[in-house]
Amino acid sequence: RKRINVGLIGLGTVGGGVARLLLEQQRRLSDYLGAELTLARAADRDPALAQGLDLPAGVLVADGAAVVADPQVDIVVELIGGLEPARAFVLAAIAGGKHVATANKALLAHHGREIFLAARQKGVGVAFEASVGGGIPLIRSLREGLAANDISHCLGILNGTCNFILSKMTAEGAAYADVLAQAQQEGYAEADPTFDVAGTDTAHKLAIIAALVTGRQPELNDISTEGITKIAPLDIQLAGEFGFKVKLLAVLRKVGQAVELRVHPTLVPLGHPMASVDGPFNALFVEGDWVGEVLLYGRGAGRRPTASAVVGDVLDLARDVLCGCPGRVPPLGSAAEPEGPLALAPLD
Ligand code: HSE
Repeated sequence: RKRINVGLIGLGTVGGGVARLLLEQQRRLSDYLGAELTLARAADRDPALAQGLDLPAGVLVADGAAVVADPQVDIVVELIGGLEPARAFVLAAIAGGKHVATANKALLAHHGREIFLAARQKGVGVAFEASVGGGIPLIRSLREGLAANDISHCLGILNGTCNFILSKMTAEGAAYADVLAQAQQEGYAEADPTFDVAGTDTAHKLAIIAALVTGRQPELNDISTEGITKIAPLDIQLAGEFGFKVKLLAVLRKVGQAVELRVHPTLVPLGHPMASVDGPFNALFVEGDWVGEVLLYGRGAGRRPTASAVVGDVLDLARDVLCGCPGRVPPLGSAAEPEGPLALAPLD
């Protein structure tokens, strides 16, 4: 059988999960694929993270650059997060003709266009299912399953940490700081949890969704963003008394030719499906002109669900490698205005 070699950069919460999944399920995944899917190389700035992963001999290499430069690697998985050196690794992998899977929402929200253009020119794929919604196959649903629709609006609960905090504050009257510490322990929060609670992570994810729904990448600065840091227990209690839950929502709404994009705490009526999305769960509520309403729901953060999405991407990219097909990237803009940013509607 043919062999598909995977190179993994980053062995933290998600990267460690991906390594475990690839190693523990190697036989099943390879049989499913019809080729030997092999974790060939792995690296992390902190080599101590490799301990306990039982990496086969020779897999651990010095750094991400060694993974990217290895001619045997077919697919590079970038799971270090942040903008640099993640951007440099991803661009170098693409330049070397390797397909890329990444969970890095900040990277795609800031540099998605550059990365997708480079991939298109090189004929390789960039897969990013794990960047939004953890284990929910949300990117695939927007790109493929719902692609025939004109989507008029989306409502997202896209940050597991914030939803976990708000849910615990609602159900148990728990203190904000205690629940945040628990979210960090569970591996839901970003390395710097300010990105979660300030709404930045949700804005990154909304930018990716907007790019898929509209075919144009929005400017991050144009997404009106407010996090959950100012939510007090009294807000939650009063909201409950009036029949609402407080949720951090990402909102996309088409207004004529423009699009409104915002992230903020919202009073969600208790009867609305988004009100019952609690804990580390995420959801995306989509309305399309032919399909009607769709609700995508599942675990939005954490080691195993996110690793599930990453390895799904690896399998998808591996199929392209096996058939010799050029990799796929999302639409990058209209032919008339390939560089133009998305026109955003002014907020009321
Ligand atoms: N910190 C993110 C969250 C991880 O809490 O949702 C998943 O993207």
